[in-house]
Amino acid sequence: MSKHKNAVDQAPVPGGKNVKVEFEDGIAWVYFNRPEKRNAMSPALNDEMLDVLQALEIDERCKVLVLTGAGDSWSAGMDLKEYFRDVEGKPPHETMRIRQTAFYWQRNKLMYFLKPTIAMVNGWLFGGAFVPLVSCDLSIAAEDAQFGLSEVNWGIIPGGNVTRCVAAKMNQADCLYYIMTGEPFDGRKAAQMGLVNEAVPAGELRERTRTLARSLMEKNPVVLNAAKLAYKHSAEMSWECAEDYLSAKAAQATLFDPERGMKKGISQFLDEKSYRPGLGTYRRED
Ligand code: COA
Repeated sequence: MSKHKNAVDQAPVPGGKNVKVEFEDGIAWVYFNRPEKRNAMSPALNDEMLDVLQALEIDERCKVLVLTGAGDSWSAGMDLKEYFRDVEGKPPHETMRIRQTAFYWQRNKLMYFLKPTIAMVNGWLFGGAFVPLVSCDLSIAAEDAQFGLSEVNWGIIPGGNVTRCVAAKMNQADCLYYIMTGEPFDGRKAAQMGLVNEAVPAGELRERTRTLARSLMEKNPVVLNAAKLAYKHSAEMSWECAEDYLSAKAAQATLFDPERGMKKGISQFLDEKSYRPGLGTYRRED
């Protein structure tokens, strides 16, 4: 067991120039790492981020993933030079590969990531960055972080699924107001609109995120993953399909759960009377 732990601890840390990863007691802090470009997402960053996410899904040092930004930005969206202007005139397949890599990590990979994800929004968040924000399971913003659907200001519509993302989280009046005016709004407003879970003073952002991550680590990981996927998939289904799918998903979670959580949870409540499921998690260590 300890031999295995050493091997894990000594494994190379994923990431590179554009994406930085730090491990801390089960939390993988993943940074957009181009602070001099306000963490704008270039094709190179997107390639690296996809590799990092693939690696962290099976890395035991990552129990919860926190996506944040180096410096004073979360991410200023797609890189206007490297993702848009420099790609003009490239062969169609190269352009499509660049676009698909961005779509794939930002939505599919992150949305259905096999571990819990938290967006810790530390600063500027514009345009294309709404997609990874909405793909994260939970989100905490600094009260003074600045968000903006700025596309209209530079002559395009919020494409690349940005419009679809905000439509999934915000109401029609707010979506149309910010899509059409391009006005920025702060973390407090983002929380009020339900775009993020909560906003806290910037000085408390990391500690609040850490506390939330730790509370997720107390849960049964197999069940937690099944629960979030069940929500994300069933929200798009008819009631009939959802009923059938959720029954099957619940059975799958129980089948794949090595710690037999449901049995333990029920027994500790009914037989031992050692905890209240309504107030906290069952004892997992035995
Ligand atoms: N794409 C490419 N480069 C970007 C960028 C983006 N989305 N956002 C910032 N940068 C670059 C700037 O060009 C500048 O590069 P330079 O130092 O080589 O000139 C550098 O990052 C710093 O940007 P600057 O505008 O000077 O920083 P600021 O702190 O004054 O303003 C922002 C920060 C985020 C308000 C501003 O950079 C901005 O409006 N960025 C674009 C946001 C946007 O509309 N994104 C949508 C993309 S889908």
